[in-house]
Amino acid sequence: MRKGQVNVFFLLLFLSLSSASDQKWRKAMMSAYNGSSSSSSMMMNRVGSSILFPIHGNVYPTGYYNVTIYIGHPPKPYFLDLDTGSDLTWLQCNAPCVHCIEAPHPLYQPSNDLVACRHPLCAALHPPDYKCESPDQCDYEVEYADGGSSLGVLVRDVFSLNYTNGVRLSPRLALGCGYDQIPGTSYHPLDGILGLGRGKSSIVSQLQSQGLVRNVVGHCLSGRGGGFLFFGDGLYDSSHVTWTSMSQEFTKYYSPGSAELHFGGKATGIKNLIVIFDSGSSYTYLNSQAYQALTLLLKKELSGQSLKEAPEDQTLPLCWKGRKPFRSVHDAKKYFKTSLALAFANSGRRKTQFELHPEAYLIISNKGNVCLGILNGTQVGLQNLNVIGDISMQDRMVVYDNEKQVIGWSPANCDHLPRFKSAYYM
Ligand SMILES: *[C@@H]1O[C@H](CO)[C@@H](O)[C@H](O)[C@H]1NC(C)=O
Ligand SMILES: *[C@@H]1O[C@H](CO)[C@@H](O)[C@H](O)[C@H]1NC(C)=O
Ligand SMILES: *[C@@H]1O[C@H](CO)[C@@H](O)[C@H](O)[C@H]1NC(C)=O
Ligand SMILES: *[C@@H]1O[C@H](CO)[C@@H](O)[C@H](O)[C@H]1NC(C)=O
Repeated sequence: MRKGQVNVFFLLLFLSLSSASDQKWRKAMMSAYNGSSSSSSMMMNRVGSSILFPIHGNVYPTGYYNVTIYIGHPPKPYFLDLDTGSDLTWLQCNAPCVHCIEAPHPLYQPSNDLVACRHPLCAALHPPDYKCESPDQCDYEVEYADGGSSLGVLVRDVFSLNYTNGVRLSPRLALGCGYDQIPGTSYHPLDGILGLGRGKSSIVSQLQSQGLVRNVVGHCLSGRGGGFLFFGDGLYDSSHVTWTSMSQEFTKYYSPGSAELHFGGKATGIKNLIVIFDSGSSYTYLNSQAYQALTLLLKKELSGQSLKEAPEDQTLPLCWKGRKPFRSVHDAKKYFKTSLALAFANSGRRKTQFELHPEAYLIISNKGNVCLGILNGTQVGLQNLNVIGDISMQDRMVVYDNEKQVIGWSPANCDHLPRFKSAYYM
């Protein structure tokens, strides 16, 4: 969602989608992939039929991770921001472009295969009472929490993808041709956004509806920069993953529901925090109350130590200077010994904890100070939403399984692409 923004979709609506065509679509979706029967011939083997992408970027100083996706015929590369906080994938587009932001590649030349306004993929981007202005095209507008936005139309085009078993696929998928963009405060010089959210219009949900992959997204962001992204469930061992169910209440985002902040292994009483996982946000955000409690606890822990607050360092709102400049979080770790965690309530079951090691909430600024990478979400307009951003997801695999409706994580080395033994399974 980029810098923890809340996406406000003003789109369209659709209400008049006849229920007959709706059902047809649903049926097609279901028969394309029937839930639990993993032996479905369409799915081939799970390991071979995952799709894996290397990614580039880091939390600081770059502030985002990008993935290269090949789109069009012939395929052209685009650098996209990885965003599990929004659904729609869009490219800056020559429709012609009214307002585009400087991008690494030439503007996308849209295909003329327009998605109709009443199509379910279009409807998924609009409120239920949206009135189609022209039935033949799907206008969209997405707005991100940092104030950025994209306005355009949905088209279908060929995506060039490879399964990990080497089989190539070229599905036609819907994407936004964005011809009017406003940059937000967290401007990234990229060609567009890869929307990986829970909604129907996300690329993975579209691949699933064509029977090509299970509706599972995962990423492994390396603390040393780079890492990988995958679609499908073949690249991790589920028994080594800590799983928690997705909230059925906050269905717009990947949210395990509400959490309580733990400090030093103990509950702090700061609870009912609605938490979302958002790869589009580089830092982690807590609401004002939780943020205040956390900073007080940290300041108390640091009092009497040789770290001094460094308000002159504007890298982030709270930085500390050591006796000597720090070169890595590892150097500064000895001052931050108390463990931090978010404990998810998980509908009566045992609480699942998402632990935050110092590497998951600290950065070293270019001045050699150590800065808190957990920020005040109320200040950036997130209201009560709490966001787990890239900083806190580094060096673990985070998996969003939209079929089982669970989110999971496990420690991982994200510096190397996972080894998959497709040969053994085929
Ligand atoms: C999915 O599979 C189950 C069991 O094999 C079957 O009963 C059900 O009708 C199938 N659903 C669809 C939509 O094909
Ligand atoms: C995006 O990733 C590619 C590698 O796939 C890299 O070459 C490029 O510099 C990155 N672009 C930006 C703007 O970070
Ligand atoms: C898919 O694999 C082929 C053959 O190895 C390669 O040429 C192509 O660049 C790959 N495409 C993508 C999108 O990775
Ligand atoms: C967080 O931001 C809000 C809104 O700007 C502000 O009122 C509040 O004082 C901030 N909280 C802390 C602890 O800085």
